[in-house]
Formats: sequence, structure tokens, C-alpha cells
Amino acid sequence: METGLSYDDVLLIPKRSSVKSRKDVSTETRLTKKIKLNMPVVSANMDTVTESEMAITMAQLGGIGIIHRFNTTEEQVMHVQRVKRYRNAIIDKPLTIKPNYTLCQAKDVMKDNGVTGLLVTNDDNRLIGILTSRDIRFKPSEETLVSELMTSKEKLVVGNVGISIEDAKKKLMDNRIEKLPIINEDWTLAGLVTSKDIYNKTEYPNSSLDEKHRLIVGAAIGVKGDSIDRAEALVKAGVDVLVIDIAHGHSDLAINTLKEVKEKCPDVEVIAGNVATAEGTKDLIEAGADSIKIGVGPGSICTTRIVTGSGYPQMSAVMNCAKEADKHDVPIIADGGIKIPGDITKAIAAGASTVMLGNLLAGTEESPGMAFIKNGKRFKVIRGMASFGAKLGREAKEKSTKDSNDAFEFVAEGVEAVVPYRGSVKEVLAQLIGGFRSGMSYCGATKISELRGKADFVKITAAGARESNSHDVSLV
Ligand code: XMP
Repeated sequence: METGLSYDDVLLIPKRSSVKSRKDVSTETRLTKKIKLNMPVVSANMDTVTESEMAITMAQLGGIGIIHRFNTTEEQVMHVQRVKRYRNAIIDKPLTIKPNYTLCQAKDVMKDNGVTGLLVTNDDNRLIGILTSRDIRFKPSEETLVSELMTSKEKLVVGNVGISIEDAKKKLMDNRIEKLPIINEDWTLAGLVTSKDIYNKTEYPNSSLDEKHRLIVGAAIGVKGDSIDRAEALVKAGVDVLVIDIAHGHSDLAINTLKEVKEKCPDVEVIAGNVATAEGTKDLIEAGADSIKIGVGPGSICTTRIVTGSGYPQMSAVMNCAKEADKHDVPIIADGGIKIPGDITKAIAAGASTVMLGNLLAGTEESPGMAFIKNGKRFKVIRGMASFGAKLGREAKEKSTKDSNDAFEFVAEGVEAVVPYRGSVKEVLAQLIGGFRSGMSYCGATKISELRGKADFVKITAAGARESNSHDVSLV
């Protein structure tokens, strides 16, 4: 029988290093065969972790978020669209309204689309004005027509088709405006450049972007029911990568779904999982997976190993699966069980290209749900997607009554819990990635591929683990 090791069972052996500063270390990596990231972190497809707010922040910072699937297809599509609309170089199809709209109608369009200004066009798509918060600062009647409120054509600052981003930026700055409509010679509307997009480009230079300079995003699908329809709707909405989300990914159900998704949606990258063995990895790769999610039971809210007796300690699972995936040049994701920054270095040194985080991101401002106060401290909720709470929540959405006997037959493989409120994702990731960069330098590596080549592990004892943490002091 093999011995399976967890992250806490090992340490990375320090090596001679030429790294002078943590900043000199590159964290560039691959999520899938085709998708590159600047930071090896993926937010988990859990309903207490990733919706559009988390996915936007993750992609802005160079990682990616996977929108969970415990919602309707329409809801999931809306989250994908919010991420895809958040950032652009030039918005090629800006939202428009007509001059005969009332202010009330215009506000509805702004609210529904999460924008603060609208371009006004006539029936020939010619630009005749713009309506922004400036124009409605003095709270006119809701029934006032847009034509009476808008800043009209003669006062507009516009850019001509073909304008460079640098020139557009200068026009925005010189005129102290937020939005620069782009027009053709005949004033037909050709696009829009916003100061928010320019700001984001400067503030977040390492963002994960698609070829149209939009943030990238992933979304999960299941293996039953309307999964293929859901996959097609998500692809239509612009999703960059699909995750086939099933606890036991080394199964016919997962393999058949994967094959069908690859056939029906050939242009989208597909991550499959979860598995914990080389055989599982191989079967999913042969079925067409572009990346494999590794982890059966290591997650903070998982009870799969307790309830079923099945699983594999995560450190060894990652190592075994990476050996197989390397033969096919397919990246793997270490999913679950990351508790501290050092675990990220260990997972990646063991062969993962990225890590998926649930717990460490569930307590952030950007995760779904509100923080609450208990005994003077702030917390947020995290729940296993196979927990009773998650199951009952799904049923309540699907059915009008909750008196289903299924609840009694359901065997939970996850728990509901709380985690401390941790502030913004940016702050949390700064700590995690800071630790990871230092970890790379301890191994003498300046990039992830070097880390994998150079890293050696030492197996430690319980005494070693005790020595690793602060000890014999009272923490303040
Ligand atoms: P962490 O440790 O980051 O792990 O919180 C997140 C991962 O846990 C998995 N997950 C579950 N596993 N029962 C399980 O056995 C569950 O109810 C459950 N919910 C989530 C999932 O892989 C996630 O990314």
C-alpha cells in the first residue's frame, strides 16, 4: 500500500538562490492548454465563493474565477456577461437610448446594465447626445424626456474611428470627461472609450484578458439534466472556459459529458474533474480535457473522505496526477485544501499549474453574501456544494414546496461553516502571492517551470510540523 501525503507532511528543501527580490519572480502560468494566467490562482465554483464580483476581481488581478452552477442558466449567463462587459479597449457596441425615452426609462436601462451613462442615437444610429450622471445631477422629474436632459451633439467631445487608445486617453483627460463616443464621418456611432477602461488598464497591468481585451471568465456545468444546453448558453455569452463539475470525475458520466461538450462546443476550453489518480487524469485527457482538476476530499468544507471512505491525500494526488498530465502537456489545477501561502508553493512545486481556492476567498468582500458580526468579530458563510444547506437551497429554488423526501435520502458530503471576514481579494492575494514568490526564491526559481524542475521535498514528522509553526510563545 502506498503512503499518501498531505501538504502538512512535507516541506520544500531550501536551495541556493540568485533571486535578489521577490519582484523578480514571474508567476505566469497556464490554466488550460490555451489559456495563460499571470497569477496561478482560480476562485472555486462554489455559491459562497464565485459570482461576477469575485470573477471580475480575480481576472483583474491576473487569475480567473469560475462562476458556480447552483443557479438557473439565465443567472449564470448574466454573471458571465457582467464579467465580459466589465472591461474593454474600445466598446464596439455601446448601449444606446432614443431621445424620446423618459428619464425613468433611461435609468432602468442604466440599472439593468450596471452603467452610469448612455449614448443617445436617432433611428439611423447617428449620435445626437449623451446622458450621464452630470446631466441629471439636479434630480429632474422622472417623466422628463432624454432629449431635454442630454448633453447634445454640438457640445460633445468625440473621437473619430481609428483613434488610438493613447489619443483617446488624452481627449478624456484634457476635457475631464468619463466617456468618449467614437463616430464615423457621418456621425454614425462606431464605439465608446471610457475612462474606467483606461484606468483599469493602468491600474491592473497583469489582468487576464481575451483577444478583445475583455476579462476572461470560467463557468461550471454538471453532468446531468440540461448541462449541454447550459454549456451552449454559456459559450454564447462569451465564457472562456467551462468546468465539468462532478465530485467523482473518474466516471463514465464525466467522461461522456466531456466528450459531448467538446463535440458541441469545440472552440471553448474545457476543464474536467475532480480526480485524484494518474488513471483518472489519463482517462479525462484522452476524452479531450484541456486541464484537469485534482482533489477528492481535501477541501475545508469536504466530508467525502469521512462519509465514503474514499479519497487521496492532496500532496500525493497532485504529484501522481502531474506526472501523468506532463506526458500529455496538459496543465492541472490543485483544487482544495490550501490553508496557508506555503501550500500554494508546495502544490505548484508538486506539478500543479494553478491552485483553486474556496476557503481563503470565501471570507472576502467580493464573495457572494453579506458579512455578519458574532461576538464582536466579522464572518462570512462558506458551504460545501454537497452539504445539506446547499442541497435544500437548490430544491427551494427548483420547487415551490420544500417537503421533499429527497432531503432525508440525501447523503451530505460537505458542511456549512463560517470563515473570518478577510477584507478585499486584492489584500488576501497580495499575502498569498507574496508568500508564493518568496517560496519560489527559497527554491532558487525565478519562474514556475524552474520551480517544478528544481524543487525537492522532505517528508517531516509530527515534531517537524510542530516546529514549523510559531511555538513556545503567547501570540499577541
Ligand atoms: P477549500 O479547501 O479551498 O476547497 O475550501 C474548495 C474545494 O472543495 C471542494 N468542495 C467540496 N468537496 N464536498 C466535498 O467533498 C463538498 O460539499 C464540497 N464543496 C466544495 C471543491 O472542489 C472546491 O473547489
